[in-house]
Amino acid sequence: MINSATINVMIGAARKAGRALVRDFGEVEQLQVSMKGPADFVTNADLKAEKTLIYELMKARPDYGMVAEESGVVHGADTRHHWIIDPLDGTLNFMHGLPHFAISIGLERAGEIVAGVVYQPLSDECYAAEKGQGAYLNSRRMRVSGRRDLAQAMLATGIPYHGRPGHERFLREMAAIMPQVAGVRRLGSAALDLAYVAAGKFDGFWENDLQPWDIAAGILLVREAGGFVTEIGGGERMLETGGVLAANAHLHGAIGDLLAPLARG
Ligand code: IPD
Ligand code: CA
Ligand code: CA
Repeated sequence: MINSATINVMIGAARKAGRALVRDFGEVEQLQVSMKGPADFVTNADLKAEKTLIYELMKARPDYGMVAEESGVVHGADTRHHWIIDPLDGTLNFMHGLPHFAISIGLERAGEIVAGVVYQPLSDECYAAEKGQGAYLNSRRMRVSGRRDLAQAMLATGIPYHGRPGHERFLREMAAIMPQVAGVRRLGSAALDLAYVAAGKFDGFWENDLQPWDIAAGILLVREAGGFVTEIGGGERMLETGGVLAANAHLHGAIGDLLAPLARG
């Protein structure tokens, strides 16, 4: 376990927001069949969760700034620190009654991610890492998988959708990856995809055009669990470019070699 005031604040906030999300998720199923569908209700659940997170984090660290998906950038008196928050990662799953979504909170200090929590409220699984302190799933230390053979690897990815760029590129990527691996999954929450790489469930994960709040916490989880995270071409500017490739140290290079040449268009 990480015995840290910062991590405790993050987990406390995530649990509080998570309780409300679980209650709202219970109601979403009823709304599937209604004429209007659950879209407005889900937007509201998302906003409520973000408000709770902001309130709890502000209470504990009043001077920190933040970047939150729904509220945007809030500058703090302490310009070195800011939270990077996604109150509901896996919104489409939530809306469709699929039980796979999470809250993601990262903490950046002077441009470096120093703490991360990804909390899956339905299963009460809390993935947490602090720089130099390792990564944990609840009280258990996490390590990335030890698989070395791409042919046995299970990778996660994200598929671009309506209104998003990169459809052609994604098809090229799948054409390159699928003959080489044991399986590819699209579970619908980038934050959890990274947490699952940290926990050794997935051997790797790649996706393009993500936002900082999708990945800030997860990047630290993977690194503290002994994995590698870079942009797909190998750079370190994931939060700026939104491209991510995470994997254990044995497979990161091989996956990058398949994906990096496909970037054009
Ligand atoms: C989405 C999820 C998804 C990824 C999308 C994200 P949201 O976040 O992380 O896995 O493929 O690009 O936008 O919208 O559910 O917070
Ligand atoms: Ca997200
Ligand atoms: Ca979200």
